[in-house]
Parts: sequence; C-alpha cells; structure tokens
Amino acid sequence: MSQLDSRLALCASFVREGKRLADIGTDHAYLPVWLCRAGVTPCAVAADINPDPLRRGTETVANAGLSDRIETRLSDGLKNISSEEAEDIVIAGMGGELIARILDECPYSRDKSKRFILQPMTKSEVLIRALDDNGFSILRQDCCVAADKCYTVLNVAYTGETTKHDALYPYLGELRPKENAAHLRFVEGHISRLQKQAKGDARFAALAEELKKRCE
Ligand SMILES: C[S@@+](CC[C@H](N)C(=O)[O-])C[C@H]1O[C@@H](n2cnc3c(N)ncnc32)[C@H](O)[C@@H]1O
Repeated sequence: MSQLDSRLALCASFVREGKRLADIGTDHAYLPVWLCRAGVTPCAVAADINPDPLRRGTETVANAGLSDRIETRLSDGLKNISSEEAEDIVIAGMGGELIARILDECPYSRDKSKRFILQPMTKSEVLIRALDDNGFSILRQDCCVAADKCYTVLNVAYTGETTKHDALYPYLGELRPKENAAHLRFVEGHISRLQKQAKGDARFAALAEELKKRCE
C-alpha cells in the first residue's frame, strides 16, 4: 500500500499536520500508516469494533514498521479513546447514521479544537441533518470518484452554530454542483434517489425538483 485510493486520499488531505490522529473503523489501517509515513501525523490510534479487521490493521502497521507510532485498539466508536489521544478524528467507510451515532456518543465531540473528517458511504443527508441540529459546522466538503463511485468527505467541527439551513442543505451541504463536476455527480445521486422515493411521497418529488434547480 504505497498509494491511497482517491476516497482515502481525500480524507487524508483534510487531516492537519502534526495533530494526533484517531482512525475509527480503521480495518486495514491504510490511512494512519500512509499519514505517518508521509510525515503528516506524529502518532495515531487505529481503532475498530471488530477483532478481524483490527488484526488486519495491526499487520499493516507492523509490516510498515510503525508499531511505535500507531496503536491498534478495539473500540466501539470513540468509547476507548481519550480526548488527549485524538485531535483529528477520521470516521470513514460507514453509513451516515452510524457516523452520527458515534459522534453523539463521544463525550468530547463538542471540544471546538477537534476536527472530524467524516466519509459516509450512505445517507450523507442524515449525517448532515444531525450535524446541523447539534451545532456542528461543515468547514470544508469535497467529493471524489473511486472505482466509478462518487463519495463525499466532510471536515467538521463543533461551533455551536444554530442558524437553521433550508430543507436542501442535508443534500447539498457545502458542495457547489454548478462549479464542480464531482460535486454535481454526488448531488445527482441524491436527486435520483429522491425521485425513486417520490413514487410514494410527493414531498420527495418537490425536493428533487428544487435540488435540480440548484444544479442548473
Ligand atoms: C468498510 S470498513 C472502512 C475501513 C476504512 N475506514 C475505509 O474507509 O476504507 C468499516 C469498518 O468499520 C468498522 N466499524 C463498524 N462499526 C464500528 C464502530 N461502531 N466502531 C468502530 N468501528 C466500527 C468495521 O468493523 C469495519 O472494519
């Protein structure tokens, strides 16, 4: 693993230099190994809830000769990771609902100095709605295409901001579909899912139409 795929590379691009990293749901631990090798990250906890993926991660770390800088650990979300161990926290490759639950259960997620790099595989709108409802702001958001699938990555911090966004915000976040082809492709995915849902509920048809207008 000398290169990350574009999905993990986009996650990596949001990690701040010199910050202690926690990678939640690390599986193969490619991301923390790459960031330590690149000199971005001084040390990391690579955590997973399941022993088998964690074993894979431990092997990758050992093969890279980084066992002194990356600790692998069993943890449900951030439950076994202290605030001192994690300044930048990556939660990638899980559903949006699960990512929202992990954030909700983290006692230090409202520490304004923390950065969360979130990459939902599904239901990004559920995640963004939960962030918006709970005072988290999207500092940056981007999209990429890997193996012909389009993904979004969010860089998030607690700001306590309570300004309410409109009904389209969970689908658009900070994306600019008029200016960026990957952003457009990601939002078009939402439009086609909403159009399918619209067969049972006219409110989804209206949302899809509004979203289309924001792309034109
Ligand atoms: C599809 S893999 C993603 C691996 C890597 N983060 C990536 O994006 O390529 C999802 C991983 O999350 C782990 N996972 C699921 N729920 C979790 C939880 N509550 N806490 C920590 N890890 C979890 C799974 O065991 C699995 O290894």
